[in-house]
Amino acid sequence: MTKAAPASREGFSSRFGVLAATLGSAVGLGNIWKFPSLTGENGGAGFLLIYLLATLLIGLPVMMAEITLGRRAKANPITALQQLAPRPGLPWWLIGVSGMLAAFLILAFYSQVVAWVFAYVVKAAGGGLLSSDPRVTEAAFAALVGDPWQSLIWQWIVLVLIGGILTLGVTRGIEAITKKLMPLLFLLLLLVCGFSLSLDKAAEGLAFLFKPDFTRIDAAVILTAMGLAFFKLSIGMGTMMTYGSYFRDDQNIPATALRVMVADLSVSLLAGIAIFPAVFTFGFEPSVGPSLVFITIPAVFSQIPMGHALMVVFFILTSIAAIGAMLSLMEVPVAILHERLGWSRRRATAITLILLLIAGASCALSGSVLVDFRILGLTMFDLFDRVSSMVLLPVGGIMIALFVGWSWGRDKLQDELSNRGGLANRRLSALLFLLLRYVSPVLILLVMLQGLDLI
Ligand code: PHE
Repeated sequence: MTKAAPASREGFSSRFGVLAATLGSAVGLGNIWKFPSLTGENGGAGFLLIYLLATLLIGLPVMMAEITLGRRAKANPITALQQLAPRPGLPWWLIGVSGMLAAFLILAFYSQVVAWVFAYVVKAAGGGLLSSDPRVTEAAFAALVGDPWQSLIWQWIVLVLIGGILTLGVTRGIEAITKKLMPLLFLLLLLVCGFSLSLDKAAEGLAFLFKPDFTRIDAAVILTAMGLAFFKLSIGMGTMMTYGSYFRDDQNIPATALRVMVADLSVSLLAGIAIFPAVFTFGFEPSVGPSLVFITIPAVFSQIPMGHALMVVFFILTSIAAIGAMLSLMEVPVAILHERLGWSRRRATAITLILLLIAGASCALSGSVLVDFRILGLTMFDLFDRVSSMVLLPVGGIMIALFVGWSWGRDKLQDELSNRGGLANRRLSALLFLLLRYVSPVLILLVMLQGLDLI
C-alpha cells in the first residue's frame, strides 16, 4: 500500500522525475574535472575499481540511508532528525544544521566555478577562446578570475537563475527542469565523445584512462577514491535527505540509488572519453581541476575540426551538469527556512539568495581584490572548499551512518527501505545496516583524517 504525501507538502510527481532530480544532484562539476583526471593520474582502471568499491561500501549505503530518513520523516533535515530520533534529548538534528552550513559554503565557491563556466559559454561562442596556445588560454582565464566585476556579475546570474528555478517549487521547478536537462546532458556528451573518439590518438587517451596500473595504488590513492565517491553522490550534507523527503512512497529506494550511481558513473566515464583522446592527440599534459577545464580544453578544442562549436557544446553541457547539483545544494537551506520558520518558498529562497550573494562575493573576489584576505593562509574560496569537503561532509556522513546504525535501528530501516513491507529486500537492508553500523563510519573517518593530514 502506498501512503499519499501530506497534501500541503510538495514532492516529486513521477518516478522518472525522482531519478532525474537525484541524478541531477549527483552529476556536477565533479564528473567533468575531478573524476577523469583523478582516474588517469592514479592508475586508470585500478583507481576505477577502488572508486567503485568505495562507492559500494560507503557512497551507496550513506546515500540510501539519507534518502530513507528523508522519506520517512517527509521533512527537511533538521526537522527529520528531530522527529526520527528515538529519544528527543539527543541532538541528532545538529546533523541538519551542519548540512545547511556545508550547503552554504559549497554553494559560495561552487557557484563561482559555475560562473566561470557560464562566462565561458559566451566567450567560446564569441570566438574569444580560440587559440591553440595554452599560454593565451591561460591568460584569458587569469583575466576572468582577476576581474572583480565579471566574476561577481556571472555569479549573480548563476545564483539568481538557480533561485528562480527553486521559487517555482519542487515539482514545477526542480523536477521539471532536471527532467529536461538530464537527457540533454547525455546527448551532448555523446556528441562530444563521438568527435573525440574519431581523433588520431584516441587510443592513447583511452589507455590513459583505463589501463590498469596497480603499482600506483597506495593508501593515499585509496583515500582519494573514497573522498571522490563521497562528493560525487552529494552525501553528508542533507541534500539526499531533503530530496528523499520528496520521494514517492512507491519509489524503490535501493534501485533508484543504484541507478543514480550507475548513471553518474557513466557521465564521469563519458566525460573522460570526451576529454582525454583530444588532450593526447594535441600533445597536452592531462591536468587536474580548473586548468583542465578552463585552459587545456579551449586550447585543445581550438585545433579540432568543428572545435569551435564543440567547445560551446562542452561548456553548455558542463553548465547543465552544474545546474542540477546547485539546485540540490540550495534546496537544503530553502527547505529548512521554508518549513521551520513558516516562510513561503519565495521568501525562503529570497533570503537564501541574499545570504549567498554576500558569502559568494567573498569567493568571487578571491582572485582579485580579496586575494590577500586569508584565514589559515587560505583565500575564502579555498577555505570554504576545504572546510566543507574535508570536515563538514565527512562528519555529516559519519553521523548519518551512526544515527541509522546505532540509534534509529534495523527494523525501521528495513520497514522504510521495503516500502513498508511491499518490496522483498530484507537481505539487502540487513547488509546495508551492517555496513552503516560498522564499515562506513570507520572508512569515512579514515578519509577525513587523511584529508586533514592527521594520518
Ligand atoms: N555531486 C556534485 C558534483 O559532482 C557536487 C555536490 C556535492 C552536489 C554535495 C551537492 C552536494 O559536482
